[in-house]
Amino acid sequence: MKYTGRILIVDDERVVRDSLAAWLREDGHDCTTVGSGEEAVDRFVATDFDLCIVDLKMPRGIDGIETMLRIRRLRPDASVVIITAYATVDTAVSAMKQGAEDYIVKPFNPEDISAVAERIVTLRRLRARRSDGRQAGEVQRFFGMSSRNPRMLEVFDLVREVANLRSTVLIEAESGTGKEMIARAIHMAGRRKDGPYLQISCAALPDTLLESELFGYEKGAFTGATGRRPGKFELASGGTLLLDEIGDVGPKVQSDLLRVLQERRLFRLGGIEEVSIDVRFVAATNRPLAMAVREGRFREDLFYRLNVIRIVIPPLRDRLDDLELLIGDLLARLSQDTGRQVEGITDEAVERLRTHTWPGNVRELENALERALVSCRTDRIEARDFDFLWAPGGGGDGAWIAPNHLSLKEVESEVIRSVLRRTRGNVSEAASVLGIDRSTLYEKMRRYEIEKPDED
Ligand SMILES: Nc1ncnc2c1ncn2[C@@H]1O[C@H](COP(=O)(O)OP(=O)(O)OP(=O)(O)O)[C@@H](O)[C@H]1O
Ligand SMILES: [Mg+2]
Repeated sequence: MKYTGRILIVDDERVVRDSLAAWLREDGHDCTTVGSGEEAVDRFVATDFDLCIVDLKMPRGIDGIETMLRIRRLRPDASVVIITAYATVDTAVSAMKQGAEDYIVKPFNPEDISAVAERIVTLRRLRARRSDGRQAGEVQRFFGMSSRNPRMLEVFDLVREVANLRSTVLIEAESGTGKEMIARAIHMAGRRKDGPYLQISCAALPDTLLESELFGYEKGAFTGATGRRPGKFELASGGTLLLDEIGDVGPKVQSDLLRVLQERRLFRLGGIEEVSIDVRFVAATNRPLAMAVREGRFREDLFYRLNVIRIVIPPLRDRLDDLELLIGDLLARLSQDTGRQVEGITDEAVERLRTHTWPGNVRELENALERALVSCRTDRIEARDFDFLWAPGGGGDGAWIAPNHLSLKEVESEVIRSVLRRTRGNVSEAASVLGIDRSTLYEKMRRYEIEKPDED
């Protein structure tokens, strides 16, 4: 569907404004023409136009920029496009810095004008729909997430807009930003919410296993296939399937996936009868998929199939205006999970957390809060309860590498400490995680004076 709008055209040359109006009327827009900036401002007093196209240079009265500034004083969200001759493109660029939405260079190509008008009118319509009933800075709650951050709110809007489509969605975002939560929201916000929601981590499985998980198999398809088993594609029918870490699937699975996405039909492994599926696919990736395409690791045709709608979740460091909301939500959940209650967190502690770069995003924040919650000795979590975030070896996901520049030796000893903590002091397990043998690990622990943490 194409949106049409009310457009005001301002040019001192009658032929120019009339031909512009005639062209835009053919696109279905409602056009008004005037010959001077002053008249344009007058018209805006009575009518709220979707777009004002104004000539930069007009010999009498105020020029295009002044017209724009006056209109925007009247209607701060007015969209203005400046028409300019080649010689004055610099001025047009400065006009954009002062708030013009775009500029058109004379002599213009009517198709370009149509495109500019359509883009601006469409954006305004979508924006108007979104801001219906929304106050600036207002908090939105959305399937377990809360936000007042404009970029995050746009993500919520996009989820709502696409929830009822069957088009594939690609979620691109750093690790720990909430990709899974958004995938679930896509499912829950749409008509499929009563159907199954399934997910599969494509990175966790070798290709052959991934294939049998996705496609299912018939009895005798391979050694060990003692009966028929439906795969995730079939099990997710009527619902949604999240293909997590899609960038990591190998070439064979990529081409099979392409076929399923195109045809919505598949054969189980070892099967001869085709099965139809009705699945809404969501794919997620930590690294831009286009990069994997450029590096030749990911099929371009599959990329286009997946990238029908793309949702990019901003990293936590770019939405620190949500920090307090997130802390509130996470502490509520953590208090339930851990059984440890606190009254809250001091402002000083929040400010301290604001200075961290959060390479591990919301998951890192969650881990940091859990650690602080469990160790804090007061009614409120205090700034010092987060000291570990800045101490080498203490942070959440990878946090200890980013802010400090550690020597290789320090990094090695920190990795060992951290793995030992995670394996609760089990040296054999730690050695296997680190890919070295036990005696080497003991040797390194001696060298770095690492005590074995108490086993619990
Ligand atoms: N807006 C949010 N509000 C509350 N918790 C959140 C929010 N976003 C993420 N989380 C929590 O942070 C953790 C990471 O979220 P999630 O698993 O959705 O991220 P991800 O992007 O899929 O991470 P990865 O790339 O590591 O798989 C989860 O425990 C999740 O509950
Ligand atoms: Mg995930």
